[in-house]
Amino acid sequence: MTSLFSSTTIGPYTLSHRVALAPLTRMRSEAGDVPGSLMVEYYSQRASEGGLLIAEATAVSVRGNGYLGAPGIYADTQIAGWKRVVDAVHAKGARIFLQLYHAGRQSHSDLQPGGAAPLAPSALAFDGLAHTKDGWQSATPAREMTLHDIEVAIGEFRDAAARAQAAGFDGVEIHGANGYLVDQFLQDGSNRRTDAYGGSRENRARFLLDVTAAAASVFGGERVGVRLAPGGTFGGMSDSDSSATFAHAARALNELGLAWLHVIEPRVSGSQEIVEGAHAVAARELREFFHGPIIAAGGFTPQTAAAIVEAGDADLVAFGRHFIANPDLPHRIRHGLPLNAYDRDTFYGGDHRGYIDYPAAPQSVAA
Ligand SMILES: Cc1cc2nc3c(=O)[nH]c(=O)nc-3n(C[C@H](O)[C@H](O)[C@H](O)COP(=O)(O)O)c2cc1C
Repeated sequence: MTSLFSSTTIGPYTLSHRVALAPLTRMRSEAGDVPGSLMVEYYSQRASEGGLLIAEATAVSVRGNGYLGAPGIYADTQIAGWKRVVDAVHAKGARIFLQLYHAGRQSHSDLQPGGAAPLAPSALAFDGLAHTKDGWQSATPAREMTLHDIEVAIGEFRDAAARAQAAGFDGVEIHGANGYLVDQFLQDGSNRRTDAYGGSRENRARFLLDVTAAAASVFGGERVGVRLAPGGTFGGMSDSDSSATFAHAARALNELGLAWLHVIEPRVSGSQEIVEGAHAVAARELREFFHGPIIAAGGFTPQTAAAIVEAGDADLVAFGRHFIANPDLPHRIRHGLPLNAYDRDTFYGGDHRGYIDYPAAPQSVAA
């Protein structure tokens, strides 16, 4: 039986355990969407020998930004900030991938160059929030992307991957989940296009495959992971045949020799609490179509994480909220130590509080 604390391989990298940091938007970057010292400390605290961190959703372009305070990787000036984060994590013996994202319609004209409308596959009303200089605001209506816009966005993912590589990241993860641009193309509730990027599930998966291939052209497929949320509804998502859509996406991604497929269980919606008693199902379902490493996420406890890895339905488990509150989470899980509780009020934005001041387990207990 495989344990959470046995070694495993991700692309060219050997990990010594399977407790990963899930990508978490914390909105603590500095002016210019550049990571600063707070972020260096946050990631360094969560790095452990042989562990894997997936850094938060990071905009591939100004157009892709949906949250003021979230970092970017669209300008060369952001490379140096990220390099400090990467170097601190590597010094602790961990690997770190950067999650690349484009918010698409989950944005606001105040965040867009020249106050333009956010971009989306189709100009459908979206009932959700974006974080602007005036706080959380309803997203503004999006404009349907032209084929040229799509080509530009794919190029932005490629350029972002190249900057991530220049910053020293071990790889990148494409954010195909939670109702952002890639997910908006994939699921038919948000994609009404009639060209090569809409209609059939093959066409709706094209943007996902194109941006993944663009990142792989920089890093090689074995250093690129993809995150999906099968049946996910966060960000106003819906699909008329979710099982078939995600089976197709997983099967097509399987051809690319990727580092991993990262699956968010539908029992969680974004950062909300899990549906009481709901079991993990999605990782097991997609295992049939994707034969590389699978990372499961969404509502795991130390016990259920151990169980899914032992059952062979996932190779790693990514933790979000527990990792926010427990910088030494792998250590605590390994030794059966109690977990700190998380404070939801400090999830998004603010200062060091609720970010880098959660205590590690006392050394005497840890021994
Ligand atoms: C504060 C917060 C920020 C998040 N930001 C991201 C993000 O940037 N990218 C992403 O793919 N998921 C994001 N998520 C979702 C988490 O990665 C994870 O899927 C979710 O929290 C469920 O896992 P958990 O039950 O272990 O917390 C976020 C969740 C939280 C709580």
